Amino acid sequence: MPLPRYYNAKDAPDTGASFVAIKARGRARTKEEMDIPTILAIESSCDDTSAAVLRGDRILSNVIASQKVHEQYGGVVPELASRAHQQNIVPVVDAAIRNAGIAKQQINAVAFTRGPGLLGSLMVGVSFAKSFAQALSIPIIEVNHLQAHVLSHFIKENDLSPVPQFPFICLLVSGGHTQILLLRSHFEFEVLGQTIDDAAGEAIDKAAKIMDLGYPGGPVIDRLAKEGNPDAFHFATPSIPGNDYSFSGIKTSFLYFLRDRLAEDPAFIETHKSDLCASIQQCIIGFLVKKLEKAVKETGVRQVAIAGGVSANSLLRSQVQLMGQRRRLQVFIPPFQFCTDNAAMVGIAGYFKYLRQDFADISLPPYAR
Ligand code: KG4
Ligand code: ZN
Repeated sequence: MPLPRYYNAKDAPDTGASFVAIKARGRARTKEEMDIPTILAIESSCDDTSAAVLRGDRILSNVIASQKVHEQYGGVVPELASRAHQQNIVPVVDAAIRNAGIAKQQINAVAFTRGPGLLGSLMVGVSFAKSFAQALSIPIIEVNHLQAHVLSHFIKENDLSPVPQFPFICLLVSGGHTQILLLRSHFEFEVLGQTIDDAAGEAIDKAAKIMDLGYPGGPVIDRLAKEGNPDAFHFATPSIPGNDYSFSGIKTSFLYFLRDRLAEDPAFIETHKSDLCASIQQCIIGFLVKKLEKAVKETGVRQVAIAGGVSANSLLRSQVQLMGQRRRLQVFIPPFQFCTDNAAMVGIAGYFKYLRQDFADISLPPYAR
């Protein structure tokens, strides 16, 4: 039977073929493939085009093409991002398959980030995943980007890779989200706390922008902070009830502080750059860890993880380790390549969905939020 040529079932002529059925169609899968599938994963939610291949929970390859085009604009330009994804997607997927040492006929399913993210960017990955899967007559698996960040802890690089046991707490800190989650299973979680305004990554990026350090500012602040004094300047954290966060006030107080100092000394940022970075980093990371520790204490959960782009931050990593030692917890810090956006995390989420035979319909659209 020829493959349907349309994504949207309602646009297709009535051929008698069910579009929903495509998810289950294709060649018969062996028992081994059902248990240990080979999954191609695609991530294109923001400004990184990434593809990965996993066999079961084992990573075979993870290719990331970061888009440099946004640097000159001080932030991600959505239209440029989707265009760059279009240019990158084929070579990136090709490299991921080659690096994995497999033939594309060995792939059992394609997992992709459906959202949240930039719609135009998501569209490139979603469309590619669908057409690739259609060409091979294999199912597609939709993945939520945030869930993928959390599940990145289950990616195995080797037999010794440690994985958390349920329940565990995960601090998810990315450019758009800041949440403390209690994970009960791969797909069951409770939000214990979250930001009521900006995300931590957003606040860090904003502080970097105010100091004209370029985009994304997180890694630059992290690097410069290593040479600075974290107690040089004090920025107050707001008292927010429960386990919630708020970062917009910190961002504003940083802005006003610098405005006042610059009025007296126009070279203030230049001459105090590393102290400023160390101080604002300590303020934001200290706040993150304080609430995380509160949540850990309240729940009595013994395993704690961090995930998302900000989990690459060296101060956050060391502070969470110290908290673990202080409270005798088992701590999970992701390898750097799984902190910021990558397709391997989409692949692991896809793997757990594959085991549940949780496949998506070919007409599924991406979502921004
Ligand atoms: O998870 P991610 O790559 O993308 C989103 O899903 O948003 O997170 C990006 C965020 C940015 O705000 C970036 O500045 C921050 O992660 N980030 C860092 C570091 N590396 C990336 N923040 C602090 N220190 C770092 N080393
Ligand atoms: Zn992300």
